[in-house]
Amino acid sequence: MIIKNIDCLVTCGGSYPKTREKLKDAQIIKNGYIVADNDTIVDVGSGNGYKKYLNNCDVVIDGRGKTVTPGLVDSHTHVVYAGSREFELSLKLKNVKYIDILKAGGGILSTVNSVRNTSREDIESETKKRLDLMLLHGTTTVESKSGYGLDFENEIKMLSVNKNLNEKHPISIVSTYLGAHAVPEEFKYNRNGYIDLIINSVIPYVKEHNLAEFIDCFCEKGVFSVEEARKILEAGKKAGLKAKIHADEVESISAAELAGEIKAVSAEHLVSASDEGIKSLAENKVTAVLLPTTSFYLMLNKFARARRMIEEGVIVALATDCNPGTSPTESLQSTMTFACFGLKMLPEEIINAMTINAAAAISREKEIGSIEKGKKADITVFNAKNLDYLIYHFGVNAVDAVIKAGEVVVKNGQLVY
Ligand code: NIG
Ligand code: FE
Repeated sequence: MIIKNIDCLVTCGGSYPKTREKLKDAQIIKNGYIVADNDTIVDVGSGNGYKKYLNNCDVVIDGRGKTVTPGLVDSHTHVVYAGSREFELSLKLKNVKYIDILKAGGGILSTVNSVRNTSREDIESETKKRLDLMLLHGTTTVESKSGYGLDFENEIKMLSVNKNLNEKHPISIVSTYLGAHAVPEEFKYNRNGYIDLIINSVIPYVKEHNLAEFIDCFCEKGVFSVEEARKILEAGKKAGLKAKIHADEVESISAAELAGEIKAVSAEHLVSASDEGIKSLAENKVTAVLLPTTSFYLMLNKFARARRMIEEGVIVALATDCNPGTSPTESLQSTMTFACFGLKMLPEEIINAMTINAAAAISREKEIGSIEKGKKADITVFNAKNLDYLIYHFGVNAVDAVIKAGEVVVKNGQLVY
């Protein structure tokens, strides 16, 4: 496959992950081309260099008027769920706080009810529709968490959906066990009993059946404390899972510091992370996955301190947090808008943060996240004359085509897989 005459080829190449000044450099090539052999990129350049491959080529795509980026990587989602929570809108507008909705048995716990009452097959077909939307919006790899089952059977059911859809759907799915998303109602008066279930029953099963690569915990005032998160994540690591942590999303309880201490692969949200927390992330090379649509949707009137994190040398990534409560969107293009206007990130920083740095957040930076020789041919073609234009023109889907592992899966904005 050849993609030629690309007005703006955003490779996100070079040394990785990208921090500080390097985050501002997306290694853009004007009048660029890409050559892929089966699922792998074999040549990248500018001008006519592609011509020598024309004789041996099945597919030629014209890139005039387009901005081409690595397939977008959504490194933090809760895309497996059942039902929806539009009824919470009116509560939010009455200023009922997110944690109070959860304490009253709503929020996450209301989606837990939906998941428990829905068959695996039905959850799978609901989730497939969301994955299709993600693909249509330019995403080619997705991290996907459990966390709406909260008992053995239903957490395994969710993780099985990850496994099945990873096999059936063009999008690659990286699976995370998030049993510690909330304490389920049946353990309301026995938190330790629930933590025991996570550590002694679910983690060993998940590991044995290869159902997840990561373990995550919602470490937040009113959810899981730093001590509880440490215990759960250390147990996961001991079993061979890699750690992620929902840290300081609403209030700071020094969860970012914990992420550094346990050398988590990533820490997520971080809206209220302290200065020490930010230092700890930088020192320990923990990727900060920022989720600006969630800050907006929670009406926090505050966004994560992305500029400070970038200055301090933290590896910053961006993701949708796609979930039915705090970020009901499948589009990383929405994340671009809020990263620009909420986090004050520059277009080149934004694209690096949802490709190569996002790949780092899920330990995939050697295979995906940039358009370079030897990387997987995961490529998104946007109807945009340059990268700034892509971020500037908001609220519409700019995707023209998506290539996943060398196959065209979206063409003229439509699914073709
Ligand atoms: O990332 N913070 C915890 N989990 C999700 C919200 C899940 C929900 O409300 O259903 C989040 O914001
Ligand atoms: Fe989340």
